[in-house]
Amino acid sequence: MKILVTGGTGYIGSHTVVKLLEQNYEVVIVDDLSNSEESVLDAIKEITGKQPLFYQFDLCDSVKVAELFTEHKDIQAIIHFAASKAVGESVQNPLKYYRNNLDSLINLLYQMEQHSISNMVFSSSCTVYGQPDKLPVTEQTPFKPAESPYGNTKQVGEEILRDTTNAIDQIQAIALRYFNPVGAHESALIGELPKGVPNNLVPFITQTAAGEREQLSIFGSDYDTHDGTAMRDYIHVVDLADAHVIALERLLDTKQKSSFEFFNLGTGNGCTVLETVKKFEEVSGVQLNYKLTDRRPGDVEKIYADTSFANKELGWSAKLGLGDMMASAWKWQKRISKID
Ligand code: UFG
Repeated sequence: MKILVTGGTGYIGSHTVVKLLEQNYEVVIVDDLSNSEESVLDAIKEITGKQPLFYQFDLCDSVKVAELFTEHKDIQAIIHFAASKAVGESVQNPLKYYRNNLDSLINLLYQMEQHSISNMVFSSSCTVYGQPDKLPVTEQTPFKPAESPYGNTKQVGEEILRDTTNAIDQIQAIALRYFNPVGAHESALIGELPKGVPNNLVPFITQTAAGEREQLSIFGSDYDTHDGTAMRDYIHVVDLADAHVIALERLLDTKQKSSFEFFNLGTGNGCTVLETVKKFEEVSGVQLNYKLTDRRPGDVEKIYADTSFANKELGWSAKLGLGDMMASAWKWQKRISKID
């Protein structure tokens, strides 16, 4: 069965491609390599022994997208990861975000309609909730106005899916609202590969430990949490990859309860920045050079998932804990930084 994975050389995409190949799906990847490397394909081959088909182009190019679907008339489903995802950059350059994240989705849905393709799994984010009034957040928690153009593309992306699945009987979709994906494959052959200075906490931690950054700044120590630092729900990328295969199979087996479903993917455990740093130090044996600094504009204070709907409906739950996340992220960093 042939599955199109957009953004398949990216961080979550590559881990999901590995799972799909291990389960004998045929995978076609489209990625423009704007935030990933072609060498990820070799790593995928080394892990699975299989080589996915790869096309390098921008999904905003509707002509190329149309050509792809003409060439691969037997695509059964799309897992759509490809998107720009840096919150700060989206504030500086909103049009890049609206264009990249929405044009690509619209081009894919248009081709699904043209070629009678039924199934899409969509990368959404807990960013759709903003700072919720009540924790943990369930799927019914109302959206707050988006904090950034990036967050808005995820809210609008879900609206586009809701409207399209309502209007076109044959199309069904599942949006997966990720909390904070971290960690790497146990082989350390694939992992998060941020270009430039990392925005996200865990790559910054591991690069600091590897000596590539001098000091980690912990943004905010006066939040209303037990140690004053911000709280998130970190989830292992390998658990996330599993959830994508389960969501895909729910669509392929027509087990969904409505044409558009959405699920929270987290562990359900809130963890502060300081706790994350301490766990990293514990599993790596490395003391981190860090300092407490001002809050980062646009950050929410705390968010973590109620995962009971995903647990019950998808039969999925996160298996790996914070220690596994930090240990695998460190193993990956040591490999790419060539540390013994
Ligand atoms: N943090 C630091 N120092 C750093 C980097 C991050 O203290 O150098 C803190 C942040 O201030 C925040 C926490 O670590 O409190 C987590 O920050 P990340 O940047 O790793 O993750 P975010 O929660 O900000 O963002 C993530 C995804 C986004 C998504 C968002 C939804 O990266 O794509 O969750 O809330 F939109």
